[in-house]
Amino acid sequence: MNDPLPNGGLIRKLWPGEAEAYRDHLLRLDPESRNRRFSGAVADEVIIRHASTAGAPGVVIHGFFVDGTLRGAAELRRIGPLFSHEGEAALSIERAWQSHGVGTGLLERTLLSARNRGITSLHMHCLADNHRMQQLAKKFEAGLSFDFGSVVGAVDPPRSTGLSLMREAMADSHGMAAAIFEAQSRLFKTA
Ligand SMILES: CC(C)(COP(=O)(O)OP(=O)(O)OC[C@H]1O[C@@H](n2cnc3c(N)ncnc32)[C@H](O)[C@@H]1OP(=O)(O)O)[C@@H](O)C(=O)NCCC(=O)NCCS
Repeated sequence: MNDPLPNGGLIRKLWPGEAEAYRDHLLRLDPESRNRRFSGAVADEVIIRHASTAGAPGVVIHGFFVDGTLRGAAELRRIGPLFSHEGEAALSIERAWQSHGVGTGLLERTLLSARNRGITSLHMHCLADNHRMQQLAKKFEAGLSFDFGSVVGAVDPPRSTGLSLMREAMADSHGMAAAIFEAQSRLFKTA
């Protein structure tokens, strides 16, 4: 969770009201990354509609920010009723920041959040030839299995404990402090 991120970026949860930043990030993905993120070609309108649900109940999005701009995201959605134990996760990182450990950091935080929400089965849809995503998922092996034919990987995050809840709370407060610090630094730079 504390590995250095490229370009002094930071990972934190998206706050309410940041759906537009999420939309803009998803729209900035190059065609191949967009295709991989949504397991097929999707129109801008679909992305705009999708991003508008970022603040819906049962959705947790962690973002990777560089100089205040969202450059990567990991979306966790509970599937089914509010207390269901199933969820799905999807990652998107803009090309210039891929292969620098951002996906690893985002997935680690997402698995912690899934665990703390009682999600015991987490689906990750990725195209069969998406080796990077598969390599990434394998790093968090616990209970991971892939169906290379049509896409599905499922991971079973272990159950929440007092410690895992505390780790998420600490990461959240660290994210908040880092975001405030970063915003202040940018203000000073422009002054
Ligand atoms: C797939 C994706 C999320 C991975 O995130 P990332 O930040 O690029 O990945 P990381 O740098 O954390 O690397 C994770 C692992 O992938 C593998 N990897 C990284 N770069 C790679 C490359 N260029 N080729 C093959 N494998 C690679 C490595 O095993 C790496 O782990 P390691 O560095 O410990 O050896 C990101 O590339 C992305 O957003 N791609 C487009 C959208 C997408 O495919 N989403 C997934 C569908 S849910």
